[in-house]
This record gives sequence, structure tokens and C-alpha cells, in this order.
Amino acid sequence: MRIIELVSEMQQLADQWRRQGKRIGFIPTMGFLHEGHLALMREAKNRADVVAVSVFVNPTQFGPNEDFERYPRDMQRDVRLCTDVGVDVIFAPSVPEMYPEGFQTGIEVSKVTIPLCGRSRPGHFVGVATVVTKLFNSVKPHLAIFGQKDYQQWVVIRRMVQDLNMDIEVVGHPTVREPDGLAMSSRNSYLSPDERQVALRLSRSLKAAQDLVDRGETGGEVILEKVRDILDSGGGLRIDYVQLCHPDTLEEAPRVDEPAVLLLAAFVGKTRLIDNCVLRPGK
Ligand code: PAJ
Repeated sequence: MRIIELVSEMQQLADQWRRQGKRIGFIPTMGFLHEGHLALMREAKNRADVVAVSVFVNPTQFGPNEDFERYPRDMQRDVRLCTDVGVDVIFAPSVPEMYPEGFQTGIEVSKVTIPLCGRSRPGHFVGVATVVTKLFNSVKPHLAIFGQKDYQQWVVIRRMVQDLNMDIEVVGHPTVREPDGLAMSSRNSYLSPDERQVALRLSRSLKAAQDLVDRGETGGEVILEKVRDILDSGGGLRIDYVQLCHPDTLEEAPRVDEPAVLLLAAFVGKTRLIDNCVLRPGK
């Protein structure tokens, strides 16, 4: 497996692969890899001839009071995991390689970035859309896989790829969970054992919402009330948002007569966690 730190070198390898007629699969990540990331890589291996993974903790998608500096990093371990899965190249540029002196361009996706994490984290999705575009232009993939764990991010990237005619197939991969239901996340490493228990309320509340829908409930407010109740039971957790949205437009969905996505974000101690699930009526 190769490790490439320069954009120009990554582009050369991508050009070479393309000349050889190889289909390039790509997984952008911020590293500190876990089973969620690895599942995306395995799917890419099934769907493409060669697989590139980027490991880049992107400063521009973190707010001034967020965790950029202390975001967990372990390149050695990431290299080992990627090697084991059979990844062909890790693209791991430095911050100045990605954002040299004078950098001043941003990609802004409009409506779908306004609610949810867009509201709580101003500038976050400009940072994400811009870095993903730069990574796409470096790796030149035919196919890119994103996790549905970051549901809004997946919607934003799909919208951007469509709007800007990027010739890339965007695939969403279902959320990978710990055996007890907690959605895997690099940020779970911040949680103390007590906080880890509190964090389980996120996935439990989503499960309770689907149970309500399975029993015929379609009223959005009833479902949201139930979710908030579970999240608020016992303290130690502060809700950022709980919302029901249309799965593609992310406009607020008042009812679950059609599939709707239930999205939530909450602080457990200082750690901000997100989770979501698509609720399907009459299931
Ligand atoms: P990161 O949080 O490292 O996630 C990289 C990819 O892995 C994203 O597509 C994310 O949705 C997916 N992922 C993370 N946890 C997952 C889980 N439990 N199940 C399934 N997929 C999961 O998302 C980012 O990095 C960055 O914003 C990035 C796109 C790399 C741009 O900087």
C-alpha cells in the first residue's frame, strides 16, 4: 500500500489508473479509523478496481470552539487497518499542502445545509463541501462512498455532485453500530465509561421512534416528544436538535406517512454526538 502526501503525486497515480482503465473507489475520512470506516472501504473494494482512502483532519470544517486540535489521530494504526483491508493508497496531505498561502475559495451548497448541523455549526458544510471537492480533484474517483451516520453530509455531497456535474457515483453506506447500538464514531473515544452509557440513549430513542411508527403512529410531534423524553431521562445529556425531515430535501416532515429521517444531535459532557434513522411507515 502506498502513502501519498502530495496532491500532484496523487493526481499522477489517479491518471495512471484511469489510463489503465481502472475504476477508482474513494473513501474520504479524517482518520482514527473504526469499523464504520472499514465497512465503507470493503464496499469500495467490491465496487471498484482500486481503492483510495484519504486521511485528513480538515481544519476548515471545525468551528473556533470545536475540537480540531484534540481530534484523535493515529496514523500508524490507520495505515495498519487500511493495509489489512487491502486499500491501495492512503492520501494524507498536510494542512499547508491542502490550504497553501492565498487559498480563498469555498463551495457553498444552499438549502440542505441550512437546518440541523448547518444551524449548530456555522461554516461547517462549506468546509466539508470544499475539502471533499479538493479531495475529489486529487483522487479523481469514479465512485465515492459516504456513511449515512453523517446523513446531512451525505445529502449535501449528493446535491453538490449533481449540481456541479461532477462525474462521480456517490454511494451511501448504512450506519455501523457497536453491539449495544451506539453509532461508531472517532469521537466516541472522548467518552468516559459513564458518558458511554448515557450516549446509548441516542440509539435507544431512535429505536423507540421506529417502534412507535411500527405500531401505526404517524404524528411527527408524538414521535419527537417520545425521543426527547428518552434523551432527557436521567440527565448528563443536552439536546442540540431532534428533527424529522424529508429524506432528500431535509425539509421538516410533520408526519411519517411517507419515509422520513429522524435526525438528532446531543452533547454528552463536552462531546457532541449525532445519530439518525429513516422511519418507514407500515413496516
Ligand atoms: P469521518 O468522520 O472520518 O468519516 C468518514 C466517513 O466515514 C464519512 O462518510 C462518515 O459518514 C463515515 N462514517 C463514520 N462513522 C460511520 C459509521 N458508524 N457507520 C458508517 N459510516 C460511518 O465525515 C468525515 O470524516 C469528514 O467530514 C470528511 C467527509 C472526510 C470531510 O473532511
